[in-house]
Amino acid sequence: MRAAIGFDIYGTLVDPLEMNGNLRPMVGELADRFSELWREKQVEYAFRRGLMGRYEDFGVCTRQALRYAMRTLDVNLSEEDQERLMAGYQRLEAFPDVAPGLETLRAKGHQLAAFSNGAEATVRSLLAHAGVFPLLEMVVSVDDLKTFKPDPRVYAYLAERLGRSAGETWLVSSNPWDVIGAKAAGLRAAWVRRKPDAVFDPWGIEPDLIAGDLSELAGRLDSSTE
Ligand code: LAC
Repeated sequence: MRAAIGFDIYGTLVDPLEMNGNLRPMVGELADRFSELWREKQVEYAFRRGLMGRYEDFGVCTRQALRYAMRTLDVNLSEEDQERLMAGYQRLEAFPDVAPGLETLRAKGHQLAAFSNGAEATVRSLLAHAGVFPLLEMVVSVDDLKTFKPDPRVYAYLAERLGRSAGETWLVSSNPWDVIGAKAAGLRAAWVRRKPDAVFDPWGIEPDLIAGDLSELAGRLDSSTE
């Protein structure tokens, strides 16, 4: 059966921790810790804004999380360096398995969408730079609803945009909280376990499919959609 699939962006199609390369000339050996803290806080800020009903787009969460990481690690970056980092966030590379995986899924006739906490224009330019935008049919952004994943409304919106019921719609994400959010909203979900030591939250809500990368996913999704 032709599946309708929404792909998470950050961590699934592109790697936000790749920012450690941009950070290294600025913060030296703190680069890895900085990029991890930056990413953690970015996601936390989006969760909190969603819960509080104080939506600002994901770019604002990213920028404020950058400042938080600077304060926590006691590094002072100039406005120019901060701008450079924010620009770097728009130029993250796709993981190497993404283009071949998406191509295979497209060739099988599946309907593919980007589905992100990021604003639509940001996601479009990010994916265009990463060279995978033409492989996706549409961008579905939470920005239309002014809330964030894992609010169940955004998963329902993904299904609506794809023209399917929740139970016929898949989310593909490397973020366990995103997979659990989709499952809780009645979608099907695949967890892309990009690192063998990645831990899935022990909530008793399990992915329908686990794959190491998108190429493996493309090979295995068919049997799960029948
Ligand atoms: C996304 C981030 C939050 O939705 O992973 O793309």
